[in-house]
Amino acid sequence: MTHLWLRAETKKNEERSALTPSVAKTLMENGDSLLTQDLKSLIGCTIAESGSWRSAPLDAYIIGLKELPENDDSPLPHTHIMFAHCYKNQEGWKDVLSRFVRGKGLLLDLEFLMLNGRRVAAYGYYAGFAGSAVALDVWAHQILNPGERYPKINSYPNEPALIEHTKELLHKASAQIGRTPKVMVMGAKGRCGTGAGDFARRVGINKKDIIEWDMEETKKGGPFYEILESDIFVNCIYLSSKIPPFLTKEMLDQPKKLTVISDVSCDATNPNNPIPVYFGATTFDDPLINIKTKTQDVDVIAIDHLPSLLPREASDMFAKDLLNTLLQLPKRQESVVWSDAEKLFNEKVKLL
Ligand SMILES: NC(=O)c1ccc[n+]([C@@H]2O[C@H](COP(=O)([O-])OP(=O)(O)OC[C@H]3O[C@@H](n4cnc5c(N)ncnc54)[C@H](O)[C@@H]3O)[C@@H](O)[C@H]2O)c1
Repeated sequence: MTHLWLRAETKKNEERSALTPSVAKTLMENGDSLLTQDLKSLIGCTIAESGSWRSAPLDAYIIGLKELPENDDSPLPHTHIMFAHCYKNQEGWKDVLSRFVRGKGLLLDLEFLMLNGRRVAAYGYYAGFAGSAVALDVWAHQILNPGERYPKINSYPNEPALIEHTKELLHKASAQIGRTPKVMVMGAKGRCGTGAGDFARRVGINKKDIIEWDMEETKKGGPFYEILESDIFVNCIYLSSKIPPFLTKEMLDQPKKLTVISDVSCDATNPNNPIPVYFGATTFDDPLINIKTKTQDVDVIAIDHLPSLLPREASDMFAKDLLNTLLQLPKRQESVVWSDAEKLFNEKVKLL
């Protein structure tokens, strides 16, 4: 019997869960036993205390989403299914990975569970959806509360609540300036890009005011002055190699409509970053980087945990996509997805 142990998330503002009640139920009906340590996340499973995964039986799979609690360097003896963010030379990657080696544990990283070259589960759709939502909110804020600091972002209980909130603000802001915003989505055919475009449509932005670009439109090479003609630019591309920048700092000094950039891709620290007009990242607590220009300022949103704006729907979509792969855990060695994930772990360990 496979024993899955759901770890409570400890990262600030992380309200998502790797498993949802319906997915947990299916797993249990298929002979898996489940333990959860977070009363709020799941029902119908055995409940353990928050943080008790450390003393779980050694054969239990510890499943969670984000980083393990900081300031803990103890060896990890279990198999963890999570986003560990340590395979792409991220800061501190050796410290994270060495914990598994010292504990003789195993990391099966959620970001690298792949089948036929595609990730089996990803949060992209709701990242784009939320990236578009925050961008429209910031645009309305610039009009309705000029000069006022944009407040901390809180999550929404569900999608209709977010849509309702945004529609209301858009209505007020558009009435004040006599027009609705124009939104440009880059990487529109991907998971994030689809979500970004869908959100704009769901809140009633005119079709002609949603500009959706992907590889075909950018093949001539940037920079693209067309971006300046939209009020909001939502960047959702998957950056895989060096490309000419989409925007430059000098361009932002020109007369333009653009006042909000939502960088869902968040590649500002990547040397190949296609939007080299700002540096760093923002958070729900401090959502914006302000860029002064010779014309209007531009506010940048660069939040790397955007799906947390809608934890319920984002968790639901992710867990459902992950379900089939979790059902293969009892025969892990025969599953391409899990075998490849284990192989990748061993390759990364060799680099230590
Ligand atoms: N901020 C967040 O919270 C968050 C959450 C999830 C994913 N992401 C990031 O968003 C990015 C996109 O993820 P995804 O799952 O949507 O990827 P994806 O592969 O599904 O889609 C990427 C899209 O970008 C397009 N693209 C790539 N290069 C392009 C170019 N030069 N010009 C135009 N289009 C281009 C591709 O054709 C594709 O349609 C990734 O970097 C991912 O890490 C961010």
